Amino acid sequence: MTTPYKHEPFTDFTQEKEQQAFSKALEQVQKVMGESYPLVIDGEKVTTDEKIVSINPANKEEVVGEVSKASQEHAERAIQAAATAFETWRYTKPEERAHILMRAAAIVRRKKHYFSALLVKEAGKPWKEADADTAEAIDFMEYYARQMIELAPGKAVKSREGEANRYMYTPTGVTVVISPWNFLFAIMAGTTVAPLVTGNTVVLKPASATPVIAAQFVEVLEEAGVPKGVINFVPGSGSEVGDYLVEHPKTSIITFTGSRDVGTRIFEKAAKVQPGQQHLKRVIAEMGGKDTVVVDEDADIELAADAIAVSAFGFAGQKCSAGSRAVVHEKVYDAVLQRVIEITESRITAAPESADVYMGPVIDQDSFDKITDYIEVGKQEGKLVSGGSSDDSKGFFIQPTIFSELSPTSRLMQEEIFGPVLGFSKVASFEEAIDVANNTEYGLTGAVITKNRAHIEYAKERFHVGNLYFNRNCTGAIVGYHPFGGFKMSGTDSKAGGPDYLQLHMLAKTVSEMY
Ligand code: NAD
Ligand code: ALA
Repeated sequence: MTTPYKHEPFTDFTQEKEQQAFSKALEQVQKVMGESYPLVIDGEKVTTDEKIVSINPANKEEVVGEVSKASQEHAERAIQAAATAFETWRYTKPEERAHILMRAAAIVRRKKHYFSALLVKEAGKPWKEADADTAEAIDFMEYYARQMIELAPGKAVKSREGEANRYMYTPTGVTVVISPWNFLFAIMAGTTVAPLVTGNTVVLKPASATPVIAAQFVEVLEEAGVPKGVINFVPGSGSEVGDYLVEHPKTSIITFTGSRDVGTRIFEKAAKVQPGQQHLKRVIAEMGGKDTVVVDEDADIELAADAIAVSAFGFAGQKCSAGSRAVVHEKVYDAVLQRVIEITESRITAAPESADVYMGPVIDQDSFDKITDYIEVGKQEGKLVSGGSSDDSKGFFIQPTIFSELSPTSRLMQEEIFGPVLGFSKVASFEEAIDVANNTEYGLTGAVITKNRAHIEYAKERFHVGNLYFNRNCTGAIVGYHPFGGFKMSGTDSKAGGPDYLQLHMLAKTVSEMY
């Protein structure tokens, strides 16, 4: 009998003892900085000459680790190993697979601060954000394990007299997991363990900016009892190794989280049937966002300002769920804008070396350049009212930046910047606010701050996003509480951490026997 699922508690960093424990974990992580990690193919550790070097974005000089870089030949071996292992793993009992996930969750929980400290180093996450990322990784394992146990008997269907009908879920095949760098632990782990627990075998290609946490997680899975060949680890170039894995005829499922451009390309490539392929591939693609916080005329100014600031600047705006657009009713526009500026300017942007740092660096030079270019665009399109400066001499730091007076159709209000840049637009009515909120190609998250019940009901029907929140921020979905996935060009709406997610990795089979 397993205990009911409950999400992992967050660490209270206002407590001195938690701060000390976390500082200790950072010291521990410091001892493993610069270590080397191999590929894992069919249980074998493979070291290559070419490496992917992971650096600390808060300190470009600091190497977090070096990870062997897979070639297409390694990708081929990994797919073959996964295909062979599938023939035994698919017949393991679902409960057995679920218990491996629970053991992996326990291993991570015992070293929780250690893993979060690694995220601070590898992605420049502030402590609170790193702690939430690790908690979410644990949650995915605990939640999917219980869900698999529930789904194991299948679902009830009717049987006529003399007939016994069953509706059961069976594994699908080799699953290619392609993960992003922003939720480098949670999304990488969640998209890896969902196919595993449903009886599929996995070839994992993590983001090149953050391969060390992925290498360490593969070690956790091995320790928890995942057999050889069931998890294969091949970090490598997206265009070289990623494409090869996606196009392989033995690949059955591709689970991708990342940008719209790469996701749509994968969707297209996966649709093409390759010589020797005996099935249609399934694609789970969760992509970008351009998410809006709407503020109504009767809104509580403090609540609205806090929701906007948290949504825009948590993890430097590098969340698909980030609320990078504030659409505010003209009656409260000036007051809300002023308060957001005050809150933002009172928070610390620095290397995340202590609990009071609210915002760290952005992930790398490419991101830094792209975001600073957008700041220049913003200066043409609107009015710079806060931030705007940047410094990449030591790490990739950009001040939280706010533009007001933007047209809803401006580039700043339409394109995913994926950095700490927030745009404000003014509207004359609630209906106009919802129209503006819907006027991007994305449909991932959104928030509405209002006291008006009729407006809440209006937005529930007409604000077209996968995750809609009222009177709070639009980030921070919790596994099992806020199933997560987007509409429109934000993706396939797979709803990670929700009750229908595991079924996306399985084939439903109807079995009918006559007596
Ligand atoms: P990205 O698309 O650049 O990379 C994602 C992954 O795809 C990486 O592992 C990368 O190596 C790989 N890749 C790149 N080119 C490839 C190719 N040709 N074939 C196969 N794989 C390839 O995205 P990113 O910069 O890592 O992450 C940021 C993006 O992810 C943002 O757009 C963000 O909104 C999105 N995101 C979405 C969600 C969600 O749940 N919707 C969650 C997190 C991030
Ligand atoms: N689960 C993450 C969030 O909601 C992406 O912010």
